Amino acid sequence: MTFSATVLTLYPEMFPGPLGQSLAGRALADGIWSLSARNIRDFATDKHRSVDDTPAGGGPGMVLRADIVAAALDGVANGTPVIAMTPRGAPLTQAKVRTLAAGPGVTLLCGRFEGFDERLFAARAIEEVSIGDYILSGGEVAAIVLLDACVRLLPGVMGAALSAVEESFESGLLEHPHYTRPPEWEGLAIPEVLRSGDHAKIAAWRSARSEEDTRLRRPDLWERHIGVRGRSPSGARGKKKEE
Ligand code: ADE
Repeated sequence: MTFSATVLTLYPEMFPGPLGQSLAGRALADGIWSLSARNIRDFATDKHRSVDDTPAGGGPGMVLRADIVAAALDGVANGTPVIAMTPRGAPLTQAKVRTLAAGPGVTLLCGRFEGFDERLFAARAIEEVSIGDYILSGGEVAAIVLLDACVRLLPGVMGAALSAVEESFESGLLEHPHYTRPPEWEGLAIPEVLRSGDHAKIAAWRSARSEEDTRLRRPDLWERHIGVRGRSPSGARGKKKEE
């Protein structure tokens, strides 16, 4: 079954963009997923095709009109979950990506300006998702990020390469580092164990590095991985070396 992606945007020319290249591009050409980028402006009703207006109560910027955006949503409705890309949304996680990729597709709503008239969220079933704690100039790049993460999980897109990487994030740990030829470069050698041919030792080394890197680089993920037991109020445990 084809994964159906619909994007509502004021900039449909931004799509497929990077999603037309590499793995996602090939999968798109192969019909593993489909993409329809629709211009919200096509659902405007006045002769100026306006989609936004000044904020009630005053202030800077413009607000996307609920009536126009709702008409656009109703016009493309196909049963897939609707997600608005907004900086106040729920943080995008691999778990969310996995859930979406297992479904029929997604309809993504991309905002610009100050955002959407709040009544839109009262009147339609819309989830809000953020790709991080920073402000983009619009939801389009965020939509591309979400779709890229979903498409690589679709059956037939990545093949066997996928499982290992997925499992590594599944455990909540960062992946171990990688090396390739030459064995020595600028005085830097590949760790001896990786050249030993001892698969059990290699697996143990990778697992240890995965844990150590997570503890040092992402104490937040490490704390979650080991559970809340033993967590000190300062969170210092996540930063210390081996005990
Ligand atoms: N639109 C603007 N900033 C965003 C963000 N961080 N995530 C999702 N959509 C956005």
